[in-house]
Amino acid sequence: MSTAFPSADAVLARLRAVRIVPVITIDDPDDAVPLARALSDGGLSCAEITFRTPRAPEALHRITTEVPDLFAGAGTVLTPEQAAQARAAGAQFIVAPGLNPRVADYCTTEGIPFYPGVATPSDVETALEHGLTMLKFFPAEPMGGLSFLKAIAAPYVDVSFMPTGGINASNVASYLAFKRVVACGGSWMAPADWISGKQFDRIRDEARRATELAGGKMPAVAV
Ligand code: 3PG
Repeated sequence: MSTAFPSADAVLARLRAVRIVPVITIDDPDDAVPLARALSDGGLSCAEITFRTPRAPEALHRITTEVPDLFAGAGTVLTPEQAAQARAAGAQFIVAPGLNPRVADYCTTEGIPFYPGVATPSDVETALEHGLTMLKFFPAEPMGGLSFLKAIAAPYVDVSFMPTGGINASNVASYLAFKRVVACGGSWMAPADWISGKQFDRIRDEARRATELAGGKMPAVAV
């Protein structure tokens, strides 16, 4: 079930095109495909499946095999073992809330696009030591939001960011307007209780609103 990873540049181009990465927490793998279709029907062709629930790898695998047009990655990957599980489930990228050097080394060795969370200049420099230049800014709003991100981005001119944490329909457009932001992550269009409550129409409608905020229907970009 292992999948070859697309190039890091191709993945970055795809993230630049999708602009919004739904951050998904899913308990029941049976909800995975209806959820993926709801996001896709709403114009969001991407999802980060967080490895916070025991059956997340199975949910991710269901999406990558049954809804292959959705650009799917794994989130909250805290160990190399989880990274290997994500790879086996068909993840096209891996995200984490922080920078675990063992996960970074595993992903670099395996050629897996890895976007670790950073919140300080020292975090950014640790990421640069690992050759990582596309970073999740987390938790974005509690850390100080866009003004903090602009300040932290200024010295590191080759670094791009994916802010996540507290982003929603009312502030996403301002983050996306900052040129150093590739895409924004967030759970607001598909919170865990909507998924477990099977409110897929509601998720589709909120995804559609998010799509409009990000500038309209996301172009399909092959990886
Ligand atoms: C994450 O894991 O990236 C965040 O928990 C998502 O943050 P949000 O729920 O505030 O969007």
